[in-house]
Amino acid sequence: MSAVKITLFLFAVVCFVRGLKLLSKTGSARLGNRVSAAGMLAAVLGALLSVYGRGGAPVGLVFPALVAAGLALGGLAGAVAARRVQMTAMPEMVALFNGFGGIASLLVAWAQFHHTRFFGAGALAPWDAASVYLAMLIGGVTFSGSLVAFGKLAGRLPGRPVLYPGQNVVNGAVLASLAAGLAAFILAPDHYGLFLAAAAISLAFGVAAVIPIGGADMPVTISLLNACSGLAACAAGFAVSNVLLIITGALVGASGTILTRVMCRAMNRSLANVLFSGFGSGARRPGVAGPRGEAKAMAPEDVYAILEAARSVVIIPGYGMAVAQAQHAVRELAAHLEANGTEVIYAIHPVAGRMPGHMNVLLAEANVPYEQLAEMDAINPRLPTMDAAIVIGANDVVNPAAREEQGSPIYGMPIINADQARTVFVLKRSMGTGFAGIDNPLFFKENAYMVFGDAKATVERLAAEFKDAS
Ligand code: TAP
Repeated sequence: MSAVKITLFLFAVVCFVRGLKLLSKTGSARLGNRVSAAGMLAAVLGALLSVYGRGGAPVGLVFPALVAAGLALGGLAGAVAARRVQMTAMPEMVALFNGFGGIASLLVAWAQFHHTRFFGAGALAPWDAASVYLAMLIGGVTFSGSLVAFGKLAGRLPGRPVLYPGQNVVNGAVLASLAAGLAAFILAPDHYGLFLAAAAISLAFGVAAVIPIGGADMPVTISLLNACSGLAACAAGFAVSNVLLIITGALVGASGTILTRVMCRAMNRSLANVLFSGFGSGARRPGVAGPRGEAKAMAPEDVYAILEAARSVVIIPGYGMAVAQAQHAVRELAAHLEANGTEVIYAIHPVAGRMPGHMNVLLAEANVPYEQLAEMDAINPRLPTMDAAIVIGANDVVNPAAREEQGSPIYGMPIINADQARTVFVLKRSMGTGFAGIDNPLFFKENAYMVFGDAKATVERLAAEFKDAS
């Protein structure tokens, strides 16, 4: 039995590592998902086998029927949620997943503590006490923090940062008290009151840590909470001596941390800035550029005339494409352009939209071939040679202030140089700002034209022009 269990666990670990690798490329992501799911199945089977001891009898506090019922219920809830969730609601769903991972670690730690306290040695050994405390602490913070992140993303809580004077000092003091609690728990590892108080404070701290972060910074927060859920699982793995939990927790912790770093770097912001600056509170920052000159508006019919003659077009999607759900219309427009002999490339900024890979997911949903997607670094050198750039609901990720205005809050953020194409069409509803809340000098460039309206409606009108002409 044990050899089968070890084999299953080993298979699971290999699947998780391989799955992660495959997930890093759009083309192999679906396979990566399946490979990881196979690993999870093996892990679940291995965990079920662990329920039984040598003589085939259940061990410890585990009731096999209860475990099986939990598995069936959890599996069903996961399957239904995954089928029902809209693509645009994916970040919320990930937030909930992280939260459940956190609360699971907290409960595992509590069960281990309770079992040792009343049915085992009475007090945990120092190393076990540290593992149990950390699994409870990180799990608790992850759970309540993820629920707040979910609420902000789903629009059930206000997205703006909730700020008050001295907030960072208060949060720092709470964190210090939780750290002191760790030392106290190692010294008194059978103290039930201390454990429960620390659990309650960690849950409260999760809320306190996430409310000052603006809704638009939630993707980074969720990625960080994802890393935390991995760390909590890892600590829980140490607490219950489960090697698979330690390995998978470490994998989640590491990949979540890397993703958090990648996102921060793509925005040219530090993690501390994301967590503590209250970005998105609506306050205008110094160095914000005011409107310069007059933006030129163009009707779709006139845009069509230029696109019809273009030999190369780059489509730059942003958050507005997701809001308008314009991806299918965009794909149709691209098909018309290609039928007209025009080369079409989709330029993808790493933080376009509101979650990592947001644009890739939407375009994949509309069956845009992966080969047509170009990353920012690949497309930028080509932009001066492109006849037209169509910016669809993107704003910050094409804002030349990041290149040209030293005082701008986004100065230094790598952008797609849409303004360097021969002609630029900006499809959006108004002259309004994007997530960063700053004006965009691109709109006033000589070669830029604003095409006002909902992105989907505008793209559909452009596609209709091509259809009518053919
Ligand atoms: P934004 O700068 O947020 O701009 C989106 C634009 O879409 C808005 O200016 C809006 O203008 C337009 N829009 C909204 N609904 C529309 C509709 N129905 N039709 C047409 N246009 C519409 O988006 P972006 O360029 O994708 O940049 C993303 C921003 O989010 C960056 O600042 C990035 O740092 C931040 N961020 C991203 C992530 C990730 S991981 N992606 C994480 C954290 C933060 P109108 O209102 O005038 O239409």
